[in-house]
Amino acid sequence: MGFAQLNTAGWAKTYLVWDEGSKKATLIDPVFDFIEHYLEVLESRGLTLAYAMATHTHADHITACFTLKERLGCEYVMWHSTACLGVTTYVDDGEVIQMDGVRFRFHHAPGHTNDSMLIETDTHVMTGDFLFTGEGGVGRDDLPSGRIHVHWAALNVLDRLEGHLVVCTGHDPPGTEMQSLEWNRSNNPVLNMSTYEEYEAWQIEVSAGLGSVSKIKTAVPANLFAEIPEHIPWLDE
Ligand SMILES: [Fe+2]
Repeated sequence: MGFAQLNTAGWAKTYLVWDEGSKKATLIDPVFDFIEHYLEVLESRGLTLAYAMATHTHADHITACFTLKERLGCEYVMWHSTACLGVTTYVDDGEVIQMDGVRFRFHHAPGHTNDSMLIETDTHVMTGDFLFTGEGGVGRDDLPSGRIHVHWAALNVLDRLEGHLVVCTGHDPPGTEMQSLEWNRSNNPVLNMSTYEEYEAWQIEVSAGLGSVSKIKTAVPANLFAEIPEHIPWLDE
């Protein structure tokens, strides 16, 4: 299995996974702003995009999934109860998509949003904003459809996963080294909390520190309706 993280700018991460034999590829959490870069990477590596997957409805960027679907004819994969339009393949808990030699297994992991899921391969797990690396803890629960108590209760989904899997998060500060789930079990503060009250206090403090999400009023409607707005403030500048 080939694997790469593609974004060099910003905090959002996009993962490219491909089958070495058939050259079929999947992009996980692609960002609209970088779509030309992804197309170049696919072409230079001789890959055919079979799937564009979103771990959840993103509030901080416009997904490239529906644009990739329109331009390349790939499948757009999301959790089955997502409110997003334009999705072509809905997946359920424990469901598998086999892309030749690469197997993706999906696990519902709500809390950051109600449609959040983990995407597991034999070697990596894409966690979206359900789990970050080490001190990053987990994603915030105060954005649309986020619920603190749901996130806390859902953390036990990680018990299904083996420790050797490399945790590939939706965000992390630039330069953060990816770590295994086993490492995170020892070093991620949220995975070492024992009470809901402790987690709730952590979430409230972290969310207050982060403040408002600057792109949310453009990104959420775009992602829900699968439409690129006429004006994208951060690209128009
Ligand atoms: Fe998110």
